[in-house]
Amino acid sequence: MRGKKIIIGVCGGIAAYKIPQLVRLLKKRGACVRVALTDAGARFVSELTLATVSEEPLYRNIFPPTESEGVDYTRHISLGEWADALVIAPATANTLARLSAGLCDDMLAAIFLTLRPGKPVLIFPAMDGQMFLSPSVQRNIATLAAQGCSIVTPESGELASGICGIGRMPEPETLVAALEEALHERALSSPLYGKKVVVTAGPTREKIDGVRFISNYSSGKMGFAIARAAVERGALVTLITGPVHLSTPPGVERVDVESTAEMNAAAEGFFGSCDLFIGAAAVSDYRPAAPYEGKMKKDDEHIELRLVKNPDILAGFGRQKSASQLAVGFALETRTGLESARKKLTEKNLDLIAFNFFDRKTCGFDVDTNILTLIGSDGVATELPQLTKDEAAGKLLDAIEQRCLNNGL
Ligand code: C5P
Repeated sequence: MRGKKIIIGVCGGIAAYKIPQLVRLLKKRGACVRVALTDAGARFVSELTLATVSEEPLYRNIFPPTESEGVDYTRHISLGEWADALVIAPATANTLARLSAGLCDDMLAAIFLTLRPGKPVLIFPAMDGQMFLSPSVQRNIATLAAQGCSIVTPESGELASGICGIGRMPEPETLVAALEEALHERALSSPLYGKKVVVTAGPTREKIDGVRFISNYSSGKMGFAIARAAVERGALVTLITGPVHLSTPPGVERVDVESTAEMNAAAEGFFGSCDLFIGAAAVSDYRPAAPYEGKMKKDDEHIELRLVKNPDILAGFGRQKSASQLAVGFALETRTGLESARKKLTEKNLDLIAFNFFDRKTCGFDVDTNILTLIGSDGVATELPQLTKDEAAGKLLDAIEQRCLNNGL
């Protein structure tokens, strides 16, 4: 659950009083939780309570409170992109009808419509027993189930009306267990499940002398996001990283290196055994031929630094990979460098390359977003919009999964 982004949609049923407890349980397990509340839901549980326990703003109306200033045109669609899973609890007859009909009249409905395919949607209907068993509710449930939503049948017991019957929402612990299982199942269904994945990340440092080096602005964020996303899909991930200020994503085996030669040596150890090699490191192409021992003095007016070429780690893997191994790389170019990226794809014998450019504001080095164009070995290019690096990593892995399926891997 650690690091998982969960949206809880809360509708107007008495069981809504259990949701603050659900939020706390998920947060204790390290999840990031946001709550979308329907208007009727707000009659049962307060916005303040939910915002406080989730430590996030509450999502309710599609429309911003003031329309004249600071309008965020993507507010109604960005959460569906953000979430790893959506839990609707309690789900009322009214919201089941709205969702099955495809209405988009509040934030919860908008999130439901914009959630990315393959992300789990768990729906916990909770209502009066007769209402639950009515043909209309059952029809709407069947429609949502056919769309891939997991509907968790309510429990039987005493209902708010005092009548005993089916319709009770399970306790928060049961909801957490169901969500954990759904997320695990998603990993199981990924072609990357159990695959050995090696990711290189960050910059390298090439020593000039004992205190100076050649490097670049790479932060390692893209490679770390890829490693995190691969673990979430059940891969066994080794992350070989140059010096960065990032914490290791849970479940990732991390190997720290400094120079390209060290990164190459570490990577070569996995060339024979990995299923997928992703070169996301910004490797120094050259290194000083003869690094100075100790600290260079500034006695001379001019000095010459002779550089020699570093090994190309990814090309090395591309040369020797077998038919069952995949090689994926990045090509950081100028804005118009698509052709150069295509050339690298061929020259390095890659299955996929992610072309990106750098402006140090929206994409490339040391920023939180990226704009990728994915080019497959079949030449087909897919342009992605500006995305967070986590989202871009997800898209890259979606494309890799597709290749695994196409190649029967
Ligand atoms: O040729 P260029 O350096 O632009 O290629 C970039 C891609 O190759 C990236 O995926 C990078 O991680 C990888 N690379 C490498 N070893 C090098 C240079 C680049 O693995 N020495």
